[in-house]
Amino acid sequence: MTRERWGSKLGVILAVAGSAVGLGNFLRFPGIAARNGGGAFMIPYFISFLLLGLPLMWIEWTIGRFGGGFEHSTAPGIFQTMWRKNRFIKYFGVIGIFGPVIIFSYYTYIESWLLGYSLYAVTGKYTACTDQIQMTEFLKGYQGLVSNEHFTNLGPAYIFFLITFLVNIVIVGFGVSRGIERFCKWALPLLLLIAALLVIRVLTLGTPDPAYPERSISNGLGFLWNPDWSELRKGKVWLEAAGQIFFTLSCGFGVILTYASYLRRQDDVALSGLSAAAANEMTEVVIGGSLVIPAAFVFLGQAGIQKVAGQNIFDLGFVTMPLVLQEMAFGQMFGFLWFFLLFVAGVTSSISLAMPAIAFLEDEFNLSRREACVMFGVVTFILCQPAIFFYGNGVLDEMDFWGTSVCLVVFATIEAVLFGWVFGMERAWTELHVGSDIRIPKIYRYIIKYVTPVFLMTILTIWFWQKWKDAILMTQIREEHPENVPFILITRVGLLGLFAFLALMVWIVWKRRPEKQEEIAI
Ligand code: PHE
Repeated sequence: MTRERWGSKLGVILAVAGSAVGLGNFLRFPGIAARNGGGAFMIPYFISFLLLGLPLMWIEWTIGRFGGGFEHSTAPGIFQTMWRKNRFIKYFGVIGIFGPVIIFSYYTYIESWLLGYSLYAVTGKYTACTDQIQMTEFLKGYQGLVSNEHFTNLGPAYIFFLITFLVNIVIVGFGVSRGIERFCKWALPLLLLIAALLVIRVLTLGTPDPAYPERSISNGLGFLWNPDWSELRKGKVWLEAAGQIFFTLSCGFGVILTYASYLRRQDDVALSGLSAAAANEMTEVVIGGSLVIPAAFVFLGQAGIQKVAGQNIFDLGFVTMPLVLQEMAFGQMFGFLWFFLLFVAGVTSSISLAMPAIAFLEDEFNLSRREACVMFGVVTFILCQPAIFFYGNGVLDEMDFWGTSVCLVVFATIEAVLFGWVFGMERAWTELHVGSDIRIPKIYRYIIKYVTPVFLMTILTIWFWQKWKDAILMTQIREEHPENVPFILITRVGLLGLFAFLALMVWIVWKRRPEKQEEIAI
């Protein structure tokens, strides 16, 4: 079987940028930035980009292309090829399949809310909600948390979920270049066009409420862009900034390396990695930063925006934004554009989350694309159900915690150490520059070798120190929602089971096909 390839250089950059540009850029970023005091957040954010995000982007592109040369698209095989002598390293690679599967299983559900909301925006279903409380009720009704005049059950949400899920599976079913690349090639420009329209609309809002002259668009932008140095000593701001950088760039999860594994040996990774990262950052800080934050600022003021973002990270996008947009002329159309933009951005990301598991089944078990997609579809469909039906019991949040926080930090640290130390910086630097269109500044040699791993390990340690015990013992959940404890426990057992299952699959592969591994060891 010949290995699939990307159709063009622009195509792969757009696919990676598509993976990166997602709900993180338009929903999570404004929420996290507002919660952490706007201007106080941006400094650690940019530092994390330069010292963590960008190096990890290059690492993943490089090791992905390297692994692809040995017919491996996922972390177990790639790690094992990079460190042949260590028999256990492939099991650490399991995190790079497990994490994306977990994230996929709840991300598609949230994505489907956006499809639902874009339809409701056009039909005016939520127009009667005129304040935060009513709009929150609408959202809760949709999520099946309460029964009210808008929704009496989860039915509509479930239908939108089914459609969204199917759209994802169909796109990946068409393959890397005919499915993912083709979709991203029109989705990304479309997304940027819609975003530009919305930005123009928001930035021309002025000072809509004369009773509050300080609630102006320019003050809203100032809230994000005036640097505030006083908060820099707080560890939490750093942790959240670093977490956001990883999440938004899709780095440190195992996703980008799968995309990069479909490159040819002489294809550039240095400039492509940089371009994809830059495209994501432009979309996040310039476009993402010019939508929710200024719009919510003129509506709620600084204290209000921080309060809403502090309660629930997505409320600014799902509750405040529709309220602001429907105050405008053509409010229904702008509401639709907002939610549809998010939906498209979500799809280009979730298809990338599906890829590691599918590629693993194809490469290591020799399944056809269709068989791999069906198997992936069945498993993740089952995994989605608890996130949907027990959303109110904290199951989705629990999956998010393991999928993004835990897997991410551990996986990224392993990757960085493997690249700079085990593979060796000399070789890594040469590999990174094979076929490259640019030369990366030398300083990055030192950053990748020393700064990135140390930074990551510091995060890991602080995080371990501060959160580990409470997370394991479920301290907060037991205090606030003791009734959710059984749900969380079952979720954990399920996640552990899934991890064990994947590890077993890796074990079977290496047991069954030693000849392939021998070949590599030459
Ligand atoms: N980067 C995506 C976003 O911003 C989310 C994502 C995370 C996608 C990890 C793939 C892997 O929404």
